Amino acid sequence: MLSGECSSTSRLLDPLCGRRRLVVSAMTLPCTFYCSLWFLLLLGAGSLLLLVHLQDLSDTLQQQQNPGAVLVVAPGWPVQKEQSSDSAALVGFDLGGVFPGALRFEMSSAPILPSPGPGQPLAFQRSAHKASSTSENQQAKSPRPTPCDVHSVEDRQLQGMAQTQASRRRLLREVCAKYQPGATERPVSRRQVSRVYVEDRSSLLYCEVPKAGCSNWKRVLMVLGGSANSTRSIAHDDAHYANQLRRLDGYDQEGVAERLCSHTKLLFVREPFERLVSAFRDKFESPNSYYHPVFGRPIISRYRANASRYALRTGAGVTFREFVQYLLDVRRPVGMDIHWEPVSQLCSPCLLRYDFIGRFESLKEEANFLLRSIGAPSNLTFPDFKDRNPKAERTSSTIAQRYFQQLNSTERQRAYDFYYMDYLMFNYPKPYKDLY
Ligand SMILES: *[C@@H]1O[C@H](CO)[C@@H](O)[C@H](O)[C@H]1NC(C)=O
Ligand SMILES: *[C@@H]1O[C@H](CO)[C@@H](O)[C@H](O)[C@H]1NC(C)=O
Ligand SMILES: *[C@@H]1O[C@H](CO)[C@@H](O)[C@H](O)[C@H]1NC(C)=O
Ligand SMILES: *[C@@H]1O[C@H](CO)[C@@H](O)[C@H](O)[C@H]1NC(C)=O
Repeated sequence: MLSGECSSTSRLLDPLCGRRRLVVSAMTLPCTFYCSLWFLLLLGAGSLLLLVHLQDLSDTLQQQQNPGAVLVVAPGWPVQKEQSSDSAALVGFDLGGVFPGALRFEMSSAPILPSPGPGQPLAFQRSAHKASSTSENQQAKSPRPTPCDVHSVEDRQLQGMAQTQASRRRLLREVCAKYQPGATERPVSRRQVSRVYVEDRSSLLYCEVPKAGCSNWKRVLMVLGGSANSTRSIAHDDAHYANQLRRLDGYDQEGVAERLCSHTKLLFVREPFERLVSAFRDKFESPNSYYHPVFGRPIISRYRANASRYALRTGAGVTFREFVQYLLDVRRPVGMDIHWEPVSQLCSPCLLRYDFIGRFESLKEEANFLLRSIGAPSNLTFPDFKDRNPKAERTSSTIAQRYFQQLNSTERQRAYDFYYMDYLMFNYPKPYKDLY
């Protein structure tokens, strides 16, 4: 077992592999094969969705369809600029330039994938009827009722939550437009959907954000998908290592494109500093057979003067300040990890255009709102198991502040800079007044 939580499979896919393999497969295309590149322009809810479908007419070539290739073009924000622009060059319009004459471009009017019309409601508002697991009498309330529909306190709450969602999506769109203008035509790589879990029965895509309720979300997805009867019966390890959930990067490009179009895309975020402290406490304050040797040892040997031999050998006892020094070091002695990687990178929010952006701070209410909106069985409610160190107090803002007191103002500022996009995209206020 490599790591404790939410990382049952860490990022195994080298983003380069996808590109390299794509180049190779494209190079081997003999000119005699009829190949066509389908461009599909889809107008989504106010957004332009461009899907590139590379279709081989030859059966043999279809067999070779490349699992590592760049998948589709969706509206978005590529996190790694160089990688995305490279992949754009490979799969996008430049492909003709790379292999002149090898590919025939066609504009297709026949939709290959189910396309939401311009006026159609967002996925999370319309998917109730599609969930085969739900019964008819559990038709979800419209999350955005017109004023006339508001009869009860409950309706008003639902309306408020739907408005909150709309304003979170709007803000994210604005931040994306400001910081990555024009990025919406870039392709989605396999790596960028590698944290996204698929639940087809209720048409959900969930991007896991560790330390923001992901174990319980996996339990819910398992129940929705029918691999468990109740969230209660699912042990922590099973939620992560035996969850029978598929991830989006495991589908072929058409499967990915289809699901990005049709499914409700779901993301839960958390106050970045609190998430960071939560990750630190979880991975470094109690025994951990992965994080201590793999991260603790290099961190101590790099940032602690006069470290004891015991500390150097075990990697136990990393302090929060040492951990932050590692995080902010441009020449980190050991790489990143999904538990503290910014959500803006983990889940590619500009690229994938999430329909539902929930907050850990009101996890249960918002998660249940979503479950009712998609027409989940009424006895399925969001659980609140605390999986990691159940006896330790949950990381609160007070606890997070205690840890940040170990840092001086420069370090605090740099930590804020590190998570700045998360603060911006998800509208969390500056945690300290003196930050800029
Ligand atoms: C769910 O419960 C039913 C009957 O209680 C049982 O037959 C079935 O195996 C259970 N399914 C799972 C996935 O545990
Ligand atoms: C919900 O009710 C159904 C049918 O009564 C039952 O099979 C299922 O296990 C229940 N699910 C949960 C999560 O309790
Ligand atoms: C490291 O140990 C040496 C010798 O014991 C001591 O002189 C020095 O001040 C220590 N340095 C730190 C940073 O503790
Ligand atoms: C804060 O700590 C860093 C070491 O992490 C040090 O380089 C810097 O000078 C300190 N800044 C202040 C304002 O004390």
